[in-house]
Amino acid sequence: MKISVIGMGYAGVVTAACLSELGHEVIGYDIDSQRINSLNSFNPQIFEPGLDKLIEKNCNLKRLTFQHIDDSDLNLGEISIITVGTPSDPNGSPNLEYIWKSVEWTTKHLKDNAVLLMRSTVQPGTGDLIESKFCEHQSINYISCPEFLREGEAVKDFFTPDRIIIGGNNSKAVEKVVQMHSGIDSPIIKTKIITAEMIKFASNAFLATKISFINEMAAFCEAWSADVDDVKDGLGLDHRIGKSFLNAGVGFGGSCVPKETRAFTSLASNYGFKSHLLSSVLEVNENQSQIPVRIIQKIFPDMNNVRVGILGMSFKPNTDDIRESPSIKIAQTLSSLGCQVSCFDPISNQKSAEKLGTSVKFETSINNLSQNKNVILLMTPWDSILNTDWEHIYDSMSEPKILFDGRNSLNPETIKNIGFNYVGVGRGISSSDLDSIII
Ligand code: UDX
Repeated sequence: MKISVIGMGYAGVVTAACLSELGHEVIGYDIDSQRINSLNSFNPQIFEPGLDKLIEKNCNLKRLTFQHIDDSDLNLGEISIITVGTPSDPNGSPNLEYIWKSVEWTTKHLKDNAVLLMRSTVQPGTGDLIESKFCEHQSINYISCPEFLREGEAVKDFFTPDRIIIGGNNSKAVEKVVQMHSGIDSPIIKTKIITAEMIKFASNAFLATKISFINEMAAFCEAWSADVDDVKDGLGLDHRIGKSFLNAGVGFGGSCVPKETRAFTSLASNYGFKSHLLSSVLEVNENQSQIPVRIIQKIFPDMNNVRVGILGMSFKPNTDDIRESPSIKIAQTLSSLGCQVSCFDPISNQKSAEKLGTSVKFETSINNLSQNKNVILLMTPWDSILNTDWEHIYDSMSEPKILFDGRNSLNPETIKNIGFNYVGVGRGISSSDLDSIII
C-alpha cells in the first residue's frame, strides 16, 4: 500500500519506518525542512534503538522517503496517518492545534475513499468531530488507530503490540487498516471511534494509577521499615495484578502518561464531575518527584551551596526525551533553594541544558559529576550509569556522601558496604536513618 505519515516526531518516524519494513511504500511528511533533510540522510534526530538502521535499510530499498509538506509532488496514498504532537495546555487539557492544522492540510490533498488514520493521542470525541467536519463531505474514511509505543522500545512495540485498536464507522476502511497491519501477529479490537480514543487514554491512566499505587505503598514501607521490592513481588505473583508497572521511584514522566492522566481530570470538570482517583494519582506523582528535595532539606537545614550531582536527565533510560522528567523538576527546585547542582546524562545533556539554562552545570562524565559532591541523585538508571565504579565515585565525593537511588536500581547492601549513606524509595530506610546524618 501507498501510505503517508504526517508529522515526523517520535511516533511518526517509528510508524513510517516500521510500515515500510512491512513492505508498504511510505512517505513521511513534516513542516520542518531541516528534519526532512536529516531523515533523508538516515538521521532520525531522536534516540530510539534500531530506528536509524530501519530508516537506512528502507530508504535504500526506495520504499521509505521523507518530504516537506510544501513539496509540489504530493502523494498521500490510500492511507494518511496523523502523528503530530498533542501537547498539554497549562490547565492540563490537550492542545489540538497541530491536529487541526494537519487534518485540514491532509484532507485537502487526500483522494476520495482514502483513509485518514489518527495515530496521535486525541481526547475522546475528537475523531467524530473531525469525521463530520473534514471527512464526510469528501468521502474520506476516518479511522482511530492509537499507538501504544514506549519510548526506547518503540520499534519492538510496533512489531509486537499487545493489541491493535481500530475505531471506525466504515467497514471497508477498517479492513484496509487491518490489511495495513498484516505481518503483525496481534489481537485486533474493532470498535467505535470514541471507544478507540478512550482505550488509549484509559491505558495510560491505568499505568499511572499502578505506579502511584506502589509509590503510596513505598511511603508505608518507609514508615514500617518494610521492603517495597518484596511487596511488588508479592503483589505481582497474583495473576490479577501482575508485577509490571509496580516499580517504586520518583514517579512517572514522559510525553504521554502524565498528559493523558491529567486530561481525564481536566475533561471531567467539563462534564460536571471530579476525577477523584486520577487527581490523587497525579498528586502522589508530584509528591514523589520531590522526595530528593525533602531528603536534602532534612539533612542540611541550610541548603545553600550544598553540592548535588544528578545522574540521568531523561525521563527514563534509552530515550533522549526529557519531557516531564523528574530530574528536570528536581534540578530546578534544588537550584532555586540554593544548592549547587551539576547534571549528567549520556544522551540528553544538550536538551536538558536548553531547558535549564545556566541555573545548573552540566558535566560530560560521571566521574567529573561526582567530584566533591555531598549528594548524588541517581534519577535515570542508564546501564552506563549503573555499571559505573561506585567505589571511585565514593572516594571522589565529600561528606556526608549520600546516594539517593531514585529508581531502586542498585543493591543497597553493596552500596552501603562501600560506605555511602544510601537512600532508596520504600526500601526500609526510614527517616530516622537520616537523623543520624543531619549536618
Ligand atoms: C507510555 C506507555 O507505556 C505507552 O504505551 C504509550 O504509548 C506512551 O506512554 P512511555 O511514555 O515511553 O510509554 O514510558 P513508560 O515506559 O510507559 O514509562 C512511563 C513513566 O513511568 C516513566 O517515567 C517511568 O520511569 C515510569 N515508571 C514506569 C515507573 O515509575 N514505575 C514503573 O514501574 C514503570
